[in-house]
Amino acid sequence: MYTDKVIDQFQNPRNVGELDNADGVGEVGSPACGDIMKMYLKIEDGVIVDVKFKTFGCGAAVATSSIATEMIKGKTLEEAEKLTNSMVIDELGGLPHEKVHCSVLAEQAIKAAIKDYKSKHGIQE
Ligand code: FES
Ligand code: FES
Repeated sequence: MYTDKVIDQFQNPRNVGELDNADGVGEVGSPACGDIMKMYLKIEDGVIVDVKFKTFGCGAAVATSSIATEMIKGKTLEEAEKLTNSMVIDELGGLPHEKVHCSVLAEQAIKAAIKDYKSKHGIQE
C-alpha cells in the first residue's frame, strides 16, 4: 500500500519540531479529517535556511511533510511557493488515493508560513 520511501519518511521523519526564532509560521487544518499541521521557516536573504514541522496528522501527513521540508530546504521563497502536493507525492513514489488529502497539508502550511513571513516584512505578494 505504501512505498518504501513513504515508510522511511514516516518512521524516520526529518525536520520535526519547532523553530524558536522562526521568520514565518504557517498553521493549517484539513477540512477532510480535522488534522492540523504547523510549519516553521527560518529565512535568510530570500532563502529557506531551516524548516521544521509539527503535525497531529496521520502517517501520510508525517511522511509528506517530512519530504516536503527536505524539498524546500535551501530553496528560494519563489521556488518553495511552487511546491505542490503532487510534486511531493511523486517524490515519494505515490500515495494511496484516500491519503492524497493529507499531502495537501504540507503544501498549504508552507504557503501559509511564507505568507506570514512576507506580511511581517511588508513584502507584497
Ligand atoms: Fe489527517 Fe492524514 S488523516 S492528516
Ligand atoms: Fe486525514 Fe486526512 S483523513 S488528512
